[in-house]
Order: sequence, then structure tokens, then C-alpha cells
Amino acid sequence: EKGGFSSFMDKEIHDQPHAVADTLLGRTDLQGRLVLDELHVDEAVLRQVDKIIVVACGTAAYAGQVAKYAIEHWCRIPVEVELAHEFRYRDPVVNARTLVVAVSQSGETMDTLMAVRHAREQGAKVVAIVNTHGSTIPRESDAVLYTHAGPEVAVASTKAFLAQITAAYLLGLYLAQLRGTKFPDEIAEVLEDLRAMPEKIQRVLDGADHVREIARSMAGTRSVLFLGRHVGYPVAMEGALKLKELAYIHAEGFAAGELKHGPIALIEEGQPVFVIVPSPRGRDQLHSKVISNIQEIRARGAHTLVIAEEGDDAVLPYADEVFRVPQTPTLLAPLVAVVPLQIFACELATAKGLDVDQPRNLAKSVTVE
Ligand code: F6R
Repeated sequence: EKGGFSSFMDKEIHDQPHAVADTLLGRTDLQGRLVLDELHVDEAVLRQVDKIIVVACGTAAYAGQVAKYAIEHWCRIPVEVELAHEFRYRDPVVNARTLVVAVSQSGETMDTLMAVRHAREQGAKVVAIVNTHGSTIPRESDAVLYTHAGPEVAVASTKAFLAQITAAYLLGLYLAQLRGTKFPDEIAEVLEDLRAMPEKIQRVLDGADHVREIARSMAGTRSVLFLGRHVGYPVAMEGALKLKELAYIHAEGFAAGELKHGPIALIEEGQPVFVIVPSPRGRDQLHSKVISNIQEIRARGAHTLVIAEEGDDAVLPYADEVFRVPQTPTLLAPLVAVVPLQIFACELATAKGLDVDQPRNLAKSVTVE
């Protein structure tokens, strides 16, 4: 049941530290090496993979987009992420050296299932990342890596998203271990960082009063934009999707670098914009690029709602509101950065008197194409 929470969604948001911890559990041996017992794909086949295609829909596809950044970085294998229904009805280049990763909470999404069948017909191996035991997608795949998020009841996906990212990261690290693209101590370090995430997610949950208060004050808002770069880009898309489906508000996620190529024309006085700011300790000037983006939209009147690391004071001059997340390596940041966005959507929809567990027109699993 709801365990004292006002909705299943609220409960499931609060289950997220467990969803990540349980998905990590039991997946290393005594020497700290990753062992993915359920992954019954021949190691020789996995060594030969020259392309990975993630197929999924909705939130699961955003988890795939996050994973792309990590898997390419660790494994040096090109990763494409494609909506399952688009993959199925074009003529994708897929062969025996392609690893298709199908991501699905329910394991019953027909669009994703059809993509799995299509990929296997072309000779690809398919690994499913699925939450629901005994569902169809794992049965029709070559192997399955279960997410251990527990049953997700609310229509909008939350804890499954975090668990999907976690499982996809384990798959990426496993491939890096197998193919020797990362040293064992580097892999061990990422695993250590991953194991620290549940406690960090808990801290975001414990400090969420501010985001709830702002959400309630914005119940009359008609449009919200979300900006992110790198792994923050799919997080922005996910934040927008949550707001659309729960609060029926027009919302769009953009890659922050794309602003000046069009979307900045949308910015007018008072337009609310969430910005997901990467860690200032990360590489590649990501942080300073996003700070300039906030500056640009603020100068044009945007009302900026900024998600930034604790201690990142560079955001303060340009932020109307700041929501803090704990310091985290860049690749793992989505596991904390998305949480305030989930809470924002849930609280705003509740303030509008909507049923967050059962948004209109939506079903928990979409078993038709
Ligand atoms: C978003 C949402 C949907 C699902 C999508 C895929 O909150 O719930 O976008 O993520 O329909 O569903 P699964 O993961 O069951 O394949």
C-alpha cells in the first residue's frame, strides 16, 4: 500500500534510495569484480560487439540516453539510443555484432517488444533491462538484467528510471571489465561512487521542502522549459515529460547548447526555466558553458530554477531559485538531479487537484503499438 504517503507516486519517489541500492546488490564477487550472473550471453560475443543500440520508450528511453554517455566513455563502443517504434519501422543497420539493449519497466511495452523481435531477426543479441519478473520482453530476449526497483504502481515512472540508469551502468562497467577498456581499480572506483548514491538521493529527499513550496506557488503556470547539457540533457527531457503527464502543463526539454539555435526565442519576461547545472569539478568546461546559458536566458527575463551542487556558488547571481544536490561525479549526477524535478511535477499536479497516480489518457503499460 501507500505506506503513509499521499500517493503511490510520492511513495515511489521516496523508495528511490532502495531502488538503486537493491539494483546494485549482489553483483560483485569477493574480489570486487562485477558478476552479472543472469547475463547469459557468450563472453566471446560480448567482446566482439561493435555497436550498441538502446531501444525503449518514454522515460526508459531517457535512461538509455543517460547510459549512452557512460557506456561510450567507459567502453569506447558507439551507442545509439532510439525510440523503439522508430527503430522498428525503419531499416536499421543491425547484425550479429550489434548488441541491442531493450529497457522497460513493465517488460510488456509492445513497441519495445516489436523492436526486440526485429533486432533478433536481424541476428543481433538482445539484453533486456526490465523491472517486472516474468514479463514478455525478458522472455523474448537473449538475456536479462533485472532492475530491483520493486513494483511501480503510479503510471508515471520514477524509481524504475533510477534503477534503469543503475543497471545500464552495471552493464557498461561489465563490458569495460570484459573488454579491458578500463583498469580494474577505475571500475572499482565507479562502483564505490554508485554505492554512495542511495544516501545522496536520500539527502535530496530530506531537503525537498523548498522545491515543494515553489511547485505549489507555480500551480497557475502554463509553460515550463528545462535545459541541460551532457547527461543533464536527458534529465531535462525527463523533467519535462513528468510535468506534461502529471500536471498537463506544456513543458519542453532542450539541450542547453541548442538555445541559440532557436529555443531562446521562447524566452520572455517571467518564463520559468529549470536548468540542470553540471558539477563544477567535472571536465570539459561543461559547468561554465551552462552558467553562460543561465546568464543568457536570465538577461532575457527568464525566471530561473537552478539545480546545482552543494557549494556551487557560481550559480547564485543568475538563479531565482536554487535546488541543491550533493556533490557527485558528472556521470552519476542524473541519479540525484532528476529527483527535484519528479517532486516538482508531483507536487504541482497535486496542488492543481489532479490524480498523480492515474493521469488522464495514460495506462501503466502500453501493450498496443
Ligand atoms: C513516463 C512513463 C512512460 C514509460 C514508457 C515505457 O512516466 O511512464 O513514458 O516510461 O511507456 O514503459 P516501460 O518502461 O514499461 O516500457
